Amino acid sequence: MIVTTKQLFMHAHRKYALGAYNVNNMEQAIGLFLGNNLAKAPFIVQISRGARSYAGVKMLENIIRAASDMFPENIFGVHLDHGDEETCYECIESGFYSSVMIDASHEPFEENVKITKRVVKKAHENGVSVEAELGLLGGVEEHIEIDEKHAMLTDPKEASEFVSMTGCDSLAVAIGTSHGAYKFTGGQGLHFDRIKAIQELLPEYPLVMHGSSSVPKSEVDRINNAGGNLDESARGVDDKEFSRAVSLGVSKVNIDTDGRLVWTRVHREYFRDHPEGYDFRKPGKILIDEYAKFIQDKSNKLMSSNMIDNLKEFLEK
Ligand code: G3H
Ligand code: 13P
Ligand code: ZN
Repeated sequence: MIVTTKQLFMHAHRKYALGAYNVNNMEQAIGLFLGNNLAKAPFIVQISRGARSYAGVKMLENIIRAASDMFPENIFGVHLDHGDEETCYECIESGFYSSVMIDASHEPFEENVKITKRVVKKAHENGVSVEAELGLLGGVEEHIEIDEKHAMLTDPKEASEFVSMTGCDSLAVAIGTSHGAYKFTGGQGLHFDRIKAIQELLPEYPLVMHGSSSVPKSEVDRINNAGGNLDESARGVDDKEFSRAVSLGVSKVNIDTDGRLVWTRVHREYFRDHPEGYDFRKPGKILIDEYAKFIQDKSNKLMSSNMIDNLKEFLEK
């Protein structure tokens, strides 16, 4: 059942985080819905612009509808990930999305406010929630001077002003993470001091953490042992840190890269061990099961496991 992202945030806030997973194809969708079904976890399905052009909008949206039909007990939101203004409007008008993300974080503050405000107006007229972004993710590297490094993180005062100026429903904040497999090169991690400072100014407000894949070493090793060539130093967010982030208002945690690593590991190992193989359904089936296991494990770390029954009661009130 698709519900509004607002309802999901109201239920999750400071109790657990909603895993927000990017979907590109059928195997990922089945694994995602199966994993959350087994975990009894609410979640968010994310569709990026890249995914929309890869599978085609109709195909992708119908894959999600079909997965929902296969697992009718699941409760989830459908979200546009990293949208521009035009794609936000398309998604709002389609009636299929619970929320859209307008990502104008690369624009100067005033321009980001202007664009986000326009999207919020249109979205709210149509019952859709809006995630916006402030601060710059990515490129937070050890060799960058401390001042520069902090300059990329979201400024708490600006965050609070941005939310009241735009009326956006959730805010993606730059708190030390970045997209992809190479987030941290050394001893960095989440900037809890910064999350805390933002949360103090926006106490009841859902914060969103992008770039939250964990990039497990075991996964990188397995990929490399099966012919891959990922940088051994690849490192992501320590998923033991999710619970602290949740207590500071992080209510949505975006994960894409870890799913790509599961795909890569399954396929590399399968074809290494079956060089004679060519039936893609064999690794495809393994992928569905491995991805479902991965989702169950993430739901435990995000503390969203076994929340479905309570969420149902909450929605019925
Ligand atoms: O943050 C971006 C997501 O990982 C989606 O990636 O645009 O390549 O589909 P994508
Ligand atoms: P990862 O690259 O860490 O999976 O982040 C995904 C993301 O933020 C999608 O918006
Ligand atoms: Zn992102």
